[in-house]
Amino acid sequence: MLKGTKVGLRARHEDDIPILQAELYDDAVTHSRAQGSPWRPFTPGSKHSPVMVNDTDQGIASFSVVELDGGTLVGTATLWGIDTHNRSAHIGLGLLPSARGKGYGTDVVAVLCHYGFVVRGLHRLQIETLADNAAMLRSAERNGFVREGVLRSSSWVLGEFLDEVLLGLLAEDWKPAARS
Ligand SMILES: CC(C)(COP(=O)(O)OP(=O)(O)OC[C@H]1O[C@@H](n2cnc3c(N)ncnc32)[C@H](O)[C@@H]1OP(=O)(O)O)[C@@H](O)C(=O)NCCC(=O)NCCS
Repeated sequence: MLKGTKVGLRARHEDDIPILQAELYDDAVTHSRAQGSPWRPFTPGSKHSPVMVNDTDQGIASFSVVELDGGTLVGTATLWGIDTHNRSAHIGLGLLPSARGKGYGTDVVAVLCHYGFVVRGLHRLQIETLADNAAMLRSAERNGFVREGVLRSSSWVLGEFLDEVLLGLLAEDWKPAARS
């Protein structure tokens, strides 16, 4: 497990799947805003559920997020698009509704930076998020990500095109937080 100050990132467990599917994936609005892909229903227990992890895909590292205090599952964290030539990757995360606004998102980004820069030796991490996702923008900026541009009308979200903000962080600019 990789530890931050409030949350830990560990492998996806089978018991996590129904909780993540019901409390995170099945919220079509949050999915549509966060994922940039069309939401569609999945039968509980489906082996094709998007919250299942494909361990053979080298381009992605998928974690479940748990509270350090007690180990309760609170969400997902992903390093995706891992490019070992350009040494870059993208960050994605989603917290269960009850876990939002407690500083966990900021901590997840910090742990993913440690994973990307220290464990994987990457040089650049990138985040794309909707321009009105204040909590995600703040979680990224608190970890040193800088806004590099606006992708105008890049995301089709529930009937309209919305802007995304692209944020980047380079290894040499990263200031790791104190870790437990
Ligand atoms: C986006 C998300 C990961 C952020 O995690 P979080 O734990 O809620 O965020 P934090 O508690 O760490 O808050 C980070 C900052 O944003 C602020 N913030 C939190 N929720 C906010 C909100 N709804 N509106 C405005 N600011 C907010 C906090 O005050 C904090 O600012 P501070 O550092 O100045 O105190 C989480 O809200 C989430 O999972 N949302 C749904 C899925 C999603 O949008 N994922 C991202 C897709 S790119």
